[in-house]
Amino acid sequence: MSPAPGTDRPVQIVPSVLPADFSKLGEECQALEKAGVDRIQWDVMDGRFVPNLTFGPDVIAASRRLVGLPFEAHLMIEEPDLLIPRFVEAGCEIIIVHAETTRHLHKTLTGVAEAGASAAVALNPASPIELVLPILDLVDMVLIMTVNPGFGGQSFIASMVPKVAALRSHIVDAGLDIDIEVDGGINPDTIASAHGAGANILVAGSALYRDPAGLEHAVSELRALASQ
Ligand code: DX5
Repeated sequence: MSPAPGTDRPVQIVPSVLPADFSKLGEECQALEKAGVDRIQWDVMDGRFVPNLTFGPDVIAASRRLVGLPFEAHLMIEEPDLLIPRFVEAGCEIIIVHAETTRHLHKTLTGVAEAGASAAVALNPASPIELVLPILDLVDMVLIMTVNPGFGGQSFIASMVPKVAALRSHIVDAGLDIDIEVDGGINPDTIASAHGAGANILVAGSALYRDPAGLEHAVSELRALASQ
């Protein structure tokens, strides 16, 4: 039987640094690199789009020289256009823009490419995939949020699985080369259903940091479960 659409794409395990020790983010990034993650996600929050406030480009830039992994900025911020160049300058190779945060999504995503980064678009749980179908030609990745953004440690919203499958099916039918990322509540119990629906970039925060066997064990366990 042929593999489900998208499940033959390379799996990437991507940590969110949201649960990390903010007093030593550089060391935390080095520990994640040592643990075998594929890249690092920075959850950027502005206290307006989401009810939480985290870090800006200068904080990310401070860790950039300490690790060789790609950085991705998950911009949970209103009016992202103004700050996109700053996050690229800080060393983020991938910029994830929420479709809900800009009036002119096509223009914003074009701006990401013009700034020299890979463009990605994110959808909140209530946002339909139809919001991004017209601009798939501008992105290398679509992030389907599997929690409502703002905080780590929330429960996986299982009703997002068919949404991932519908998007993967559209991408395959259109002959596009686009990754699907999921973020929120990804752990050993939920990763297989997300991957099986067609997500190949899997973001985890609390599942990595709460593993008593440590980061390396948590990363390899998630990778094994996603690659089954
Ligand atoms: C929500 C954040 C979280 C974080 C991962 O805004 O984006 O999803 O990255 O959190 P966990 O893996 O702890 O659910």
